[in-house]
Amino acid sequence: MSNTSQPGAVADNDARVLIFDTTLRDGEQSPGASMTLEEKLEVADLLDQLGVDIIEAGFPIASPGDFESVSEVARRVKNASVAGLARASEKDIDRCAEALREAKRPRIHTFISTSPVHMKYKLQLEPERVLEMVSASVTRARNHVADVEWSAEDGTRTELDFLCRCVEAAITAGATTINIPDTVGYITPTEYEQLFRTVRERVPNSDKAIFSVHCHDDLGLAVANSLAGVRGGARQVECTINGIGERAGNAALEEIVMSMKTRADALPFFTDIDAKLLTRASKLVSAVTSFPVQYNKAIVGRNAFAHESGIHQDGMLKNAHTYEIMTPESVGVSKTSLVMGKHSGRHAFREKLKELGYDLGENALLDAFNRFKDLADRKKFVYDEDLVALVDDEIVNA
Ligand code: KIV
Ligand code: ZN
Repeated sequence: MSNTSQPGAVADNDARVLIFDTTLRDGEQSPGASMTLEEKLEVADLLDQLGVDIIEAGFPIASPGDFESVSEVARRVKNASVAGLARASEKDIDRCAEALREAKRPRIHTFISTSPVHMKYKLQLEPERVLEMVSASVTRARNHVADVEWSAEDGTRTELDFLCRCVEAAITAGATTINIPDTVGYITPTEYEQLFRTVRERVPNSDKAIFSVHCHDDLGLAVANSLAGVRGGARQVECTINGIGERAGNAALEEIVMSMKTRADALPFFTDIDAKLLTRASKLVSAVTSFPVQYNKAIVGRNAFAHESGIHQDGMLKNAHTYEIMTPESVGVSKTSLVMGKHSGRHAFREKLKELGYDLGENALLDAFNRFKDLADRKKFVYDEDLVALVDDEIVNA
């Protein structure tokens, strides 16, 4: 890519990757994840603070509520571009433009399916008609706004020559971002990286647009695929907080951001996200959607910086690099937690008691440790209160 005059365009050798957050659109499409207008505005405010480049606020034609939330987000957001989704129809595109009227940086995101199975069964259209609709929809969107994203729905199951023709048509009609989604979470990282390389090489005007990845997690590959797409030349990643989204979800924003930060040697790219707000964003989205975050979720799960085994706790007490590849503070967690359980060792037990204000002699410590182990065998969680009771008892009976 060499053209930097297009809205949001990035030069080819630029390592900056734009973050397009779709928590409020694809994320909200998770069954049961719907949010009220107030909740959406709260999430949008935090996404803007987080440094997200584009917030996809919803699908304006879908319902009056969706129209209202896109309009309100558009009116309110100060820094990010605000995108609305529209199918390849005049009504959708015009409604989307109306919802974005007050946005400082509006983006219309229009899409149509390009795979044989979607064209035949879902759209019931011939490929040549779909191609005409690509041009017509992007042209119409460009008549409303300068920043237009075009997506080839089910792009990864699309026949390559046809995909290239569609991408060329979209760019010719004025699309500034080209998204090739892995709509059904089907592709593998090597294939996705190659797909971006091939399309960018084969489409003559590909340098006029930014390429984007959009991955679903049906095989648990959404983040790996997104990063592979970036290696293949994409410079926009579409993702959601906590990875919420249709079916198994979308690529998780926090994982994309921290992978680039933590492994800059292997992934020489960066985003403008303020990672210290990631945990806050995760908690907010979990609260407003009522979707719990799994305990072992990368980056934001409650066990992401917790250590229970004696060997790990001993290592952590000697040097945090032994078992942590990023600091909890870097993602907004106050500190590592050494969880006291049946796998914990004496080193961590002593440190924990010190933290609780106890300094026991060797014999009392050993005694208390043995009683703690008995307790931990019986109880799933040993809380600070349990330890205090146990040690007080030890002191009284000494
Ligand atoms: O997964 C998908 O293909 C989508 C498009 C609408 C971009 O969400
Ligand atoms: Zn999607």
